[in-house]
Amino acid sequence: MDPQTRSKLDSYLRLLHRHRVYDDFVRVWDQHIAAPALTRVNALIEEWVKPGAIVLDAGAGTGKRTLAILQHSQPEEVIALDASEAMLAVAKSKIHDPRVRFGQGDVRHLPFADNTFDVVVCTWVIEIMDDPRAVVQELIRVIKPGGTVIYAFCSLLEGTLGNILKYVMAKSSSKKESPLTHLLSKEEQPFHRCDSASLTRFAGGLTTVATVGKCCTVTDEFVACRVREPQAMLK
Ligand SMILES: C[S@@+](CC[C@H](N)C(=O)[O-])C[C@H]1O[C@@H](n2cnc3c(N)ncnc32)[C@H](O)[C@@H]1O
Repeated sequence: MDPQTRSKLDSYLRLLHRHRVYDDFVRVWDQHIAAPALTRVNALIEEWVKPGAIVLDAGAGTGKRTLAILQHSQPEEVIALDASEAMLAVAKSKIHDPRVRFGQGDVRHLPFADNTFDVVVCTWVIEIMDDPRAVVQELIRVIKPGGTVIYAFCSLLEGTLGNILKYVMAKSSSKKESPLTHLLSKEEQPFHRCDSASLTRFAGGLTTVATVGKCCTVTDEFVACRVREPQAMLK
């Protein structure tokens, strides 16, 4: 694992082991700041995870979204994958459903064949990656044709509030106490428009929930869909 990723993971471990604040932070995040976005994520899980589906929770952390998947759908199997053993240990201590399997792995290089999952859920992960678009592309690789990637991320607010937030984050990340070292700017937000995609912003643009399908590419925001785009462009 490269040093930068290791250092980001280390910041989570510090929170988990030394300060024991991670779960408190997640509680405030889930119940207040990100509540509308998570309501949307849950609705998308209900919509897209059909009974018997095989689902990946990519960057599962302490298992919050894995539990939401179990609560809002009837999957056959959920793989909860995270790079951090410590996070997975917490998730394992909370989730005892036989449909859930836990695995250590990197969302940038998923240890799964193409077209493995019906749905991939990935919440609050891509914004801590150096190349968020590449991660979403990797998530698309492992969904089956007709499958869906549901992902949520924090975004960079514009204007004064955004500048204040950037300042606070720079301060806290310089102390290496916060995992929130980076919020995605407009240019970094992986998404493009097509019929199988959706994007909804919440909290004044602080959080975003998106879906993309197998036909989607995130390499160029304006090439909406590999399958349909050439025809549409010719007309
Ligand atoms: C903010 S937490 C989100 C956890 C969970 N998805 C949720 O909604 O509560 C980010 C998670 O990404 C994991 N992570 C960071 N880099 C990763 C990587 N390269 N591959 C897999 N997981 C990673 C961290 O260990 C952490 O558990």
